[in-house]
Amino acid sequence: MIRLPDERHETRAADPLRVAILGCGNVGAEVARRLLEREDVRLTRVLVRDVHRPRPVGRALLTRSIEELLDSQPDAIIELLGGVEPARCHVEAAVRRGVHVVTANKSIIARHGQALHDLAARCGARLLCEASVGAGTPILAALDQLRGDRITAIRGIVNGTCNFILTRMETAGCTLDEALREAQRLGYAEPDPTADLTGRDSAEKLCVLAQRAGWGWIHPDAVKVQGITTITAEDVRSARRQRCVIRLIAEAERHTDGAVRLCVGPCFVPVAHGLASVTGCGNAFEIEAQLAGRIHLQGPGAGPRCTASAVISDLLALASPRREAAPKAHASPRRAATSRTTALRRHYIRADATTGGPDPGALLHCIERSGINVDSLELRPGRAVLHTMPVTFDAASGLAESLAEGEPDRCLVAPLVE
Ligand SMILES: NC(=O)c1ccc[n+]([C@@H]2O[C@H](COP(=O)([O-])OP(=O)(O)OC[C@H]3O[C@@H](n4cnc5c(N)ncnc54)[C@H](OP(=O)(O)O)[C@@H]3O)[C@@H](O)[C@H]2O)c1
Repeated sequence: MIRLPDERHETRAADPLRVAILGCGNVGAEVARRLLEREDVRLTRVLVRDVHRPRPVGRALLTRSIEELLDSQPDAIIELLGGVEPARCHVEAAVRRGVHVVTANKSIIARHGQALHDLAARCGARLLCEASVGAGTPILAALDQLRGDRITAIRGIVNGTCNFILTRMETAGCTLDEALREAQRLGYAEPDPTADLTGRDSAEKLCVLAQRAGWGWIHPDAVKVQGITTITAEDVRSARRQRCVIRLIAEAERHTDGAVRLCVGPCFVPVAHGLASVTGCGNAFEIEAQLAGRIHLQGPGAGPRCTASAVISDLLALASPRREAAPKAHASPRRAATSRTTALRRHYIRADATTGGPDPGALLHCIERSGINVDSLELRPGRAVLHTMPVTFDAASGLAESLAEGEPDRCLVAPLVE
């Protein structure tokens, strides 16, 4: 039997945990099926839009009304709606009643996590969100466990859809559009994949990671983001010639002066690097901590089963002694610096000029004017492909944009991950 830690629940500590689920889609249906098998949990209501569709729970449990759901007196709700609204206001309503919340929703945590955590603390409720990053890969728990250390960097592959597309482009030699259509056919990409492809989904997850690292709440709009939409089959072939693959990497670093820098963008990753071996919808994380050193964590980044694992584990954690969800020890809310990174790195640049473009001589002149040292260079009318010597991301971007005549959509700038 579950024993809840706070006084409010002590009177019925031997009773099953009363749980209501918001959403019965991919993840909600899997969670509902698993909870129905447990004796220590009793489902009170399940919120959906369409109560007539077949679901793993009986019709009597389904409701379209959040009030009816909250009136069923759950000890905890599991929010699996997705998106910001109405998920955020439903979570707020539950917390105001002192009801604990488990969510897999990175958007509400990244954008409203601070307000929701503060409210939960005032109302005696807990808000757990392990599944919001890495699905079933317990990356937030790993960061919690390092609260006695000083985390200096986190980088990783946090978007399974983009990783699937990039690895399909690599293995099948197809275009981004072809790989996206395949991902949609297999259910790995949403009908509207904009948040994934533009890197916004990764930026939200990165903010949740940074908060868990103890760096404070950073709004996703403060993350420098570049998506994968401009990557071509030729870029993937160029990477292979350099014994690299292209991966969308989310990266957060905390400098000794306390400044925090968050960025998301495509990188060239050497094939021997751990992040290069992550294929399909996989996620992978590298944490650098002062005492613990470099830690790697890798696992499936999407799917109902692995997400249900994290959700149910959070639910059961409500029964254990309070684990601080928002570590305070060295938390200091800061705005992130807006440049992608100040580190000097080698960069891949591919730039297409707009209308047939200037001749190779003019492109060469543009490169010489930038003062950037070039390791290898391939010039064709209207196209420049080059690998730079170590340089800042801003300098590489400046060169790429001037080669592409100010059109960022016509170039790709990818730092090399060391
Ligand atoms: N799928 C994954 O692999 C995965 C991995 C990690 C995290 N997550 C997160 O888990 C959450 C759920 O994802 P999912 O893939 O399960 O989504 P989904 O398949 O689209 O399911 C959403 C569910 O929420 C219900 N819903 C949506 N808006 C509603 C509203 N306004 N009122 C009532 N019900 C509403 C839908 O009802 P109807 O069924 O009636 O339409 C549906 O049952 C999201 O936050 C997602 O980011 C998902």
